[in-house]
Amino acid sequence: MSDLMAVILAAGKGTRMKSALPKVLHQVGGRPMVQHVLHAANEAGVGKNVVVIGFGADSVREYLGNQVEYAVQEQQLGTGHAMLQAKTAIGDFSGTILVLCGDTPLLRGETLKALCQAHRHNQAAATVLTVRMPDPTGYGRVIRDGQGQVLRIVEQKDAGPDELSCDEINTGIYCFQTEALFSALSQITCENQQGEYYLTDVLEILGSGGNRVGAVLAEDYQEMLGINSRAQLAEAEKILRQRKLAEAMNNGVTIMDPASTFIDAGVVIGADTVIYPFTWLEGSTMVGRDCQIGPNTRLQNAVIGDSVTIHFSYGHDCRVADHVTVGPYVHLRPGADLGPNVKVGNFVEVKNSHVGANSKLPHLSYIGDADIGERVNIGCGTITVNYDGVKKYRTTIEDDAFVGCNSNLVAPVTVGEGAYVGAGSTITKEVPAQTLAVARARQTNITGWIDKRKK
Ligand code: UD1
Ligand code: CA
Repeated sequence: MSDLMAVILAAGKGTRMKSALPKVLHQVGGRPMVQHVLHAANEAGVGKNVVVIGFGADSVREYLGNQVEYAVQEQQLGTGHAMLQAKTAIGDFSGTILVLCGDTPLLRGETLKALCQAHRHNQAAATVLTVRMPDPTGYGRVIRDGQGQVLRIVEQKDAGPDELSCDEINTGIYCFQTEALFSALSQITCENQQGEYYLTDVLEILGSGGNRVGAVLAEDYQEMLGINSRAQLAEAEKILRQRKLAEAMNNGVTIMDPASTFIDAGVVIGADTVIYPFTWLEGSTMVGRDCQIGPNTRLQNAVIGDSVTIHFSYGHDCRVADHVTVGPYVHLRPGADLGPNVKVGNFVEVKNSHVGANSKLPHLSYIGDADIGERVNIGCGTITVNYDGVKKYRTTIEDDAFVGCNSNLVAPVTVGEGAYVGAGSTITKEVPAQTLAVARARQTNITGWIDKRKK
């Protein structure tokens, strides 16, 4: 087992967010802030994560599930009090505790690694991660003595004018030797402007008790931004987005217009893919190599193969194999699964349906709850009639079938291998293989009718 564990403080309401949602569940880069923090902790080699929850505890638990352990802080009496609540979950662990806040989504794993290394190397009781902020307003200030030794941290609301002019801030991230941490926590009080139990007070207690208290000054202040308001959330979103775009471009992806391209943190894109403007790639979307995606395309949790073209379209929870063409104006709904070389053209909606290799759905169709074979041609305006108002039924269209334009396929129904459906048919029973089905009224031509009407 790893001798490093993390405690993530996430019980606060986030009053300044003015939200019913707990602060740490607000999303940036397509994931809740706390999920970004967990990601960084895991990258740093943490063996176990304890998340301290309180405000909106159920929603946080629901989101994070069993990837972490929980400690509940019923009343939000401050960061020090929050840390104390984690004691039971920490149990008899005696290694290094990495303390993180759930509201710093820009944090990188490598930065945490460097902090933990310094902490171990110096055999410190506590090591705080600090940074110089261009605008330190709102953060705790790091107060050092003449030798540069950290003395204490002073919160904005408790600081005097001299202290406020200090631009080195507490990131809210620390490494602690477990025993030292809890012995100091038992001594903190709430005698300060906010009447809260501050975790930051632990540093002064440890230092004045003769324990080694170190600090690591980080270089990139942006990484340490703690998100307290919607404006800061938007700022974090922008930074995360630029990072992701840079990462994609570094990996060989062409982004035609970074200003109008939005890629979530968890998205993976292959080399030589070109992303056109006004494109959103979200959630767990994966795009292969040599694709052309966009313009004006939104993909959510979509798995896209290699050499795929998708333009002016929306796809969610769907799969697209290699060499497929989609769009313009296609809606791929959950469970849409397009095989290799498939063509889906304008104004086609596909839901919960598998489309076999080399099949074509070029125009104006609704395909729902269908299994379509290979080399099938779906004529313009074909509709699978999958719903009788109560239940949904499946349509099966076998290999090499040809469905004529403007056909209704009333499910449950099967169109056999190589069968033809005449244009304008409403098919209500099986079409056997290699058979032509025509299910429409015969045309009657009435000669002399126009003349008769004129008279
Ligand atoms: C805290 C630090 C400050 C630091 C800043 C960095 C203290 C006293 N201050 O201030 O020095 O510069 O973070 O962003 O620690 N939380 C709980 N329970 C509570 C209170 C807070 O779980 O009772 C959690 C919050 O959910 C949040 C984190 O702790 O994830 C930080 O709390 P927040 O209120 O944002 O602290 P700051 O005032 O920003
Ligand atoms: Ca904060």
